[in-house]
Amino acid sequence: MSKEALNELKEKLKGCKGCPLCSTRTNLVFSDGNPEANIMLIGEAPGADEDRLGVPFVGRAGKLLDEFFKKAGIDRQKDIYICNTLKCRPPNNRKPEPDEKKACAPYLKFQIDTIKPKIIILCGATALESFIKGHTITKARGKIFKGSKGTVFIPIFHPSYLLRNHSLEEGSPRDLMLKDLKMIKQLSAQDVILHNSEA
Ligand code: URA
Repeated sequence: MSKEALNELKEKLKGCKGCPLCSTRTNLVFSDGNPEANIMLIGEAPGADEDRLGVPFVGRAGKLLDEFFKKAGIDRQKDIYICNTLKCRPPNNRKPEPDEKKACAPYLKFQIDTIKPKIIILCGATALESFIKGHTITKARGKIFKGSKGTVFIPIFHPSYLLRNHSLEEGSPRDLMLKDLKMIKQLSAQDVILHNSEA
């Protein structure tokens, strides 16, 4: 049922003209992974590779994210549902405009409400700002914020930030990313997840 509703929305959005990005997109980038998963990851917006293939996180940043998933024991096709704040690529990979986020927000909300994940990973500053106000990604990452209906939000670094930070030392961005994803994998198996931070 949930899969059908999501597929219907995806088909409908292929003709979406809700914001100017419809005139520059090649493909709508709706989601990847498992709509029955406990974990949902929300990124920023599709890049060039995602726009070409119609799948989120398949470019350089996506490949690095996949490596972290593997190390944390997260199966991309089984354990997680992946999408973005925007379903169409902003030209030259610029940050999403507020109007574009506003136009796409009801569709992201529909995905969340249909999937009902236990954990929503906010991947990077843009996803963080869309749900939690007044926090920087550096301070918020790894914390557990209370959402509605038992869902929690957990911000993590965006993989494109890690592409510019190669250190694996204790406390480095890559070290923290792996720790965050391992914690998320562990939490996803729990019945109740307690928050430790206020939005
Ligand atoms: N960056 C994102 O935020 N999302 C993608 O799908 C790809 C790169």
